[in-house]
Amino acid sequence: MKFFLDTANLKEIREGASLGIVDGVTTNPSLVAKEGRSLEEVAREICDLVDGPISLEVISIESKEMIEEARRLARLHKNVVVKLPMIREGVKALKVLSGEGIRVNMTLIFSPSQALIAAKNGAYIVSPFVGRLDDISSEGMNLISDILKIYDNYGFNTQILVASIRHPVHVVQAARLGAHIATMPYSVLEQLLKHPLTDIGLEKFLADWQKRKELLPK
Ligand code: E4P
Repeated sequence: MKFFLDTANLKEIREGASLGIVDGVTTNPSLVAKEGRSLEEVAREICDLVDGPISLEVISIESKEMIEEARRLARLHKNVVVKLPMIREGVKALKVLSGEGIRVNMTLIFSPSQALIAAKNGAYIVSPFVGRLDDISSEGMNLISDILKIYDNYGFNTQILVASIRHPVHVVQAARLGAHIATMPYSVLEQLLKHPLTDIGLEKFLADWQKRKELLPK
């Protein structure tokens, strides 16, 4: 399973990358706005830190403008994947861009039918938002298993990127189902590698070793 960081914060990306387990990065307009810098500037620096797919989202909502914006973003770096919203205009833009060989991540996916349409038009990635579905008392993970089943039925190559992850259990559930990618905030990546029993165990090992050292001849 690939791990992506869902952030535009360079400090977090640098930290995550130093662990060697970050395969890519996803951003969205809200995350980029938090950094207070231009998308192009942030994007170039992210591409220098992580050698993997970097999703950059368009802000246009008409297909003609989306296509122009997407082409411009794709030219920034070979690793850029353009993110388009799953709306009617986005579907039109997807068809044109995927035909040109531009990799597209269809975002804001909340239903199996949206994921099916995105795959039919050649999406490289789909981003179903599990956390936001959970937030409205809907089982977000059911959407992931539905999309996996549908893609398997027809042999679609579109990768399923589980988005809007809120906690480590979301990542483990997505891995159990066999989703291709999980994108997560830096805090969730940290939580994934921690266990209190590991810390307690290590503390005890080191304390026991210190006692033993006192017994050794000086
Ligand atoms: C996906 O690429 C989105 O950026 C992201 O996962 C949205 O998550 P949120 O629901 O926590 O904002």
